[in-house]
Amino acid sequence: MKERRIEIAPSILAADFRHLEREVKSAQDGGADRIHCDIMDGVFVPNISFGPMVVSAVKKCVSIPLDVHLMIAAPENYIAQFCDAGADNLTVHADAVANLPNVFETIRARGVNVGVTVNPDKPISLFDRYLDKVDLVLIMSVYAGFGGQPFMREVLEKVRALTNRRRLANLDFSIEIDGGINAETAALSFEAGVDILVSGSYIFGGNNYRSAIESLRNAGKDTKNER
Ligand code: DX5
Ligand code: ZN
Repeated sequence: MKERRIEIAPSILAADFRHLEREVKSAQDGGADRIHCDIMDGVFVPNISFGPMVVSAVKKCVSIPLDVHLMIAAPENYIAQFCDAGADNLTVHADAVANLPNVFETIRARGVNVGVTVNPDKPISLFDRYLDKVDLVLIMSVYAGFGGQPFMREVLEKVRALTNRRRLANLDFSIEIDGGINAETAALSFEAGVDILVSGSYIFGGNNYRSAIESLRNAGKDTKNER
């Protein structure tokens, strides 16, 4: 059994945008594996965040990959812009898209990794026939739209179902979880089979990003450490 190394993806939604360069560099220096960018349009979710200009600015500040989470209506119309801005993977909500395999192909054709997600109340059956076409499945552990919400433990069932499917079908996608992640929920997520933890307020809300990132990475150490 190979040892599992959990990846940490700080979400800049909770960063201080007055000093965004300093914030993302501190996260990278503190050991972050990716920077998570939450894109909200005020239509698919009731909040507006930022667009490709900010993604492209962040790209210039760090060398770790950018994990771009599109919470927007008709994401197919913006794939080119976010890929050009420097996304290393692009995650779409399955229910925001009319033709899912088509969107996956468009993203991949640009050399960008493909991610898919659904909100906590939506089943993975919305996309599970395409699991061989994605690099990443994001399990939302809060409703998309806002940082700082409490973790919804029931979504861990989806994580377990996906780890089983992955093993039985010999697939290789990563499982990411997003929303309400702290040291305690990180341990639960790791135990269920999560590979990548997104965390906004737990990391950027404190004053020591390195120790927050380390505490998330170590959270799973006492649990089963094999895949
Ligand atoms: C919610 C976003 C999350 C959010 C996580 O719509 O997708 O990425 O920033 O924030 P915390 O970690 O504060 O729950
Ligand atoms: Zn997100």
